[in-house]
Amino acid sequence: MPSDADDAAPVADLAGDHVVVTSGPTREWIDPVRYISNRSSGKMGHSLAVAARRRGATVVLISGPTVLDHPAGVTCVDVETALQMRDAAHAHLAASTIVIKAAAVADYRVAAPLAQKIASRKDRPLALELIPNPDILRELAARRTGAFLVGFAAETHDLRDHAAAKLRTKGVDLLVANDVSRAGIGFEADDNEALLLDRWGGVLALPRMSKRRMADAILDRVRHLRAGPPR
Ligand code: PMT
Repeated sequence: MPSDADDAAPVADLAGDHVVVTSGPTREWIDPVRYISNRSSGKMGHSLAVAARRRGATVVLISGPTVLDHPAGVTCVDVETALQMRDAAHAHLAASTIVIKAAAVADYRVAAPLAQKIASRKDRPLALELIPNPDILRELAARRTGAFLVGFAAETHDLRDHAAAKLRTKGVDLLVANDVSRAGIGFEADDNEALLLDRWGGVLALPRMSKRRMADAILDRVRHLRAGPPR
């Protein structure tokens, strides 16, 4: 990960906050050696956890498998599947004041993962039955605990329209929409660019910047929206 904000002076403007961040991909097992997953590296979610901790918050980072180190001073919960991420997110929701769901959760899982490796049969096709995973973000929003809820939207086209629809259907306070079809931002990249849509009708465009800087910009927006009447 880039280190441009590593040296930033600590600002304890989130002291007293309990921040839960989800990060990385989930893995949905087919058999003991194969899984369905996606390109998420965890850089965006981990940057948010690091920034929130640096700003004085107590931070829980719930992450799918990544190659990134556990950030110092952060309680890390390692998960693999969407169902495990869901359990961990629900378990930590009650104590949280801010929840940020940057993880790329698999929308489907294999209906019946096999206990033994599937033997290769190249003479016939292999069909997998996939069933929908629960929408963790919607479930958290439905619990209405009072935590400020931030969702992400990973889009490949019609970014603003799709993000506006997700803002409504997911029931979040703030939605961070990024274009994952562009090189240099989104999945795996060190940089990101995003449109921030909030439930009060506000829209803020964040230009391309490092994910570490974007993490701070997202936290700044959360503080701004919590502080008073949105402008
Ligand atoms: O990890 P990086 O390589 O740094 O990449 C960052 C990122 C591209 C993964 C990140 O910026 C991002 O966009 N994360 C959200 C990815 C995603 O799953 O988007 P979505 O539009 O499919 O889902 C919308 C929201 O619902 C997300 O907050 C997601 O966490 C949540 N969700 C989705 C499905 C599901 N079953 N449960 C959920 O909670």
